[in-house]
Amino acid sequence: MNEVIKKIEKILLSAGIEEYKQEARLIVESVSNLTLDKIIAGAEINNVEKIIEIAKKRASTGMPIQHILGFSYFMGEKYIVNSDVLIPRDETEILVEESYKLLKDKNEKIDILDIGVGSGCISCALAKKLQNKNIEILAVDISLQAIKTALENADKLDLIRKIVFRKSDVYSKIRDCEKFDLIVSNPPYIPLKEKNILQREVSFEPEIALFATDNNGVEFYEKIIKDASKFLKKGGFLAFEIGVNQSGLVKELFVKNGFKKIKIIKDLANIDRVIIAHI
Ligand SMILES: C[S@@+](CC[C@H](N)C(=O)[O-])C[C@H]1O[C@@H](n2cnc3c(N)ncnc32)[C@H](O)[C@@H]1O
Repeated sequence: MNEVIKKIEKILLSAGIEEYKQEARLIVESVSNLTLDKIIAGAEINNVEKIIEIAKKRASTGMPIQHILGFSYFMGEKYIVNSDVLIPRDETEILVEESYKLLKDKNEKIDILDIGVGSGCISCALAKKLQNKNIEILAVDISLQAIKTALENADKLDLIRKIVFRKSDVYSKIRDCEKFDLIVSNPPYIPLKEKNILQREVSFEPEIALFATDNNGVEFYEKIIKDASKFLKKGGFLAFEIGVNQSGLVKELFVKNGFKKIKIIKDLANIDRVIIAHI
């Protein structure tokens, strides 16, 4: 392995960073503007000082590497991230894939509501995957700063024509006449009481994107499910990402509110991660 990459790995490893190999590679590739293949083939690495500076900042502050670099990848696309938005997680790709499967065979116009758009990763990924369809996504968030970042991402990915952004507290600014084939959400779901046991990196992300105030972290699922029938088209779907130990509680909320055909999808760690229901 290349000497610069080895040096960066060592800096990160000594700070206890678990994914030190992947992060070292990410730093070196993105700052030098070279692919790993080229580096291994012996290309000279530019900006070595900058690379070391970034690794040291990561090691000494614990700030997520995505915040230091200013971007993250989601489903193969590069997204701007900053302290106003959640860093897109790999698990959320499951929510996108499952949502896509629900809609891919539809021939009529597709309307989607994304509640808690954050960086825009769900809306943009769905807009991209369904780009040959007549599709319109309404993406809402309570945070104007998050919406600003999502808008920048949609613009960079040339998806701005497919997505409308709006500040809304859950459904507060959704009009009664607006109806959707799919309401999708990865809401804040970490119980506030778990705040002190989270990894150091998470403390750099916005609290409004992370925490629910109830004991089980299901506050937002309850709010979204309760009024969903008002905003879903006949036969519409509701799809959520969920946290550890939440599938049973969210399933109960669905049943209580008249939803059927409830499907739970596990992630690679065998944790129930996505839940979908049908009205
Ligand atoms: C877990 S993040 C998800 C962000 C993005 N969709 C993703 O999957 O990476 C939750 C998002 O919900 C937003 N949010 C929090 N409370 C909200 C509310 N009452 N109404 C609408 N959005 C809210 C936060 O600002 C944050 O962007």
